[in-house]
Amino acid sequence: MSIILLGIESSCDDTSAAIIKDGEILSNCVANQTIHQKYGGVVPEVASRAHQVNIIPVVDQAIQQAGIEKQDISAIAFTRGPGLIGSLIVGVSFAKSLALSLGVPIIEVNHMQAHVLAHFAEDPKPNFPFLCLTVSGGHTQIVLVKSHLEMEVLGETIDDAAGEAFDKTGKLMGLSYPAGPLIDKLAKNRKAIYDFPEPNIPGLNFSFSGLKTSILYFLKKNLKDDPDFIDNNKEDICASVQERIVSILMKKLERAAKQTGIKEIAIAGGVSANSGLRNTLTSFGERLGWNTYIPKFEFCTDNAAMIAVTGYYKYMNDEFAEQDIAPTARYRF
Ligand code: KG4
Ligand code: ZN
Repeated sequence: MSIILLGIESSCDDTSAAIIKDGEILSNCVANQTIHQKYGGVVPEVASRAHQVNIIPVVDQAIQQAGIEKQDISAIAFTRGPGLIGSLIVGVSFAKSLALSLGVPIIEVNHMQAHVLAHFAEDPKPNFPFLCLTVSGGHTQIVLVKSHLEMEVLGETIDDAAGEAFDKTGKLMGLSYPAGPLIDKLAKNRKAIYDFPEPNIPGLNFSFSGLKTSILYFLKKNLKDDPDFIDNNKEDICASVQERIVSILMKKLERAAKQTGIKEIAIAGGVSANSGLRNTLTSFGERLGWNTYIPKFEFCTDNAAMIAVTGYYKYMNDEFAEQDIAPTARYRF
């Protein structure tokens, strides 16, 4: 008999539902919350209320697009954490209630583990062991992936995440939230002409808060001489910011590859949608003999397909959760 899973993701500001049948993605629907743009960042209370509004239509859409009936679902996988607690509560409560009404088991999923396993949504899949640079709005990690469910964090950010570095710099420049995709667009076909400092952090950890501060002072200084400095140099500033963030990430990824001797290298998370990072990873791969793995755009940013994929491996491993399970804002694996 086929295994059909419903995946539910509600950790931040995207409500998503996906259906996976025997490991194959049948649907992956996402409702974005554009309301946060006017606040310049995600407002937790607003996000949680929007999940309440979106969750039933998104789940219905995923079931419809997959061409299945609710009664065909074998189990429901949901994001337990990490994330915004008010957002997580909506997805977790919905998953538990629907599972109770259908009489099917539930599977709890770590959002960061799911970003890594987004690579198993489609071919080509990385071979174990591989390294995954997971870069999102809330996290920046180098993960040693030993098997589908066995992962170890080798290094992570000690302050801001890479996505935050993009978003906060964009905010300083007056760009709307989330600024990452906008900076990517403005940086296209431009070279970095401003040299922002690289932090000197030992080992495989990252730091981005110093970069943000140096950009703030750089903008302040230049705006004093020319009030239109940002408008007149937007593309060059974006290219310089992007190149520095990418070089910080790649330096540590190269170090991790050297230390472990692993040449299977993947990127994941929202920032893996960045064209500068994607191109640089490809050229590092060619130069260093790595096999590189870059997810399709729809599997980079938050999506429920990755939750369903993770749920599938847990289902095969008999890893089910009890009905009294609660979401958790901080969740390490
Ligand atoms: O994984 P994700 O969708 O949500 C979290 O779990 O945080 O990542 C969102 C982050 C945001 O910071 C957004 O600005 C960034 O990913 N992002 C990008 C790009 N697309 C999304 N950053 C740089 N370039 C992009 N093309
Ligand atoms: Zn994420």
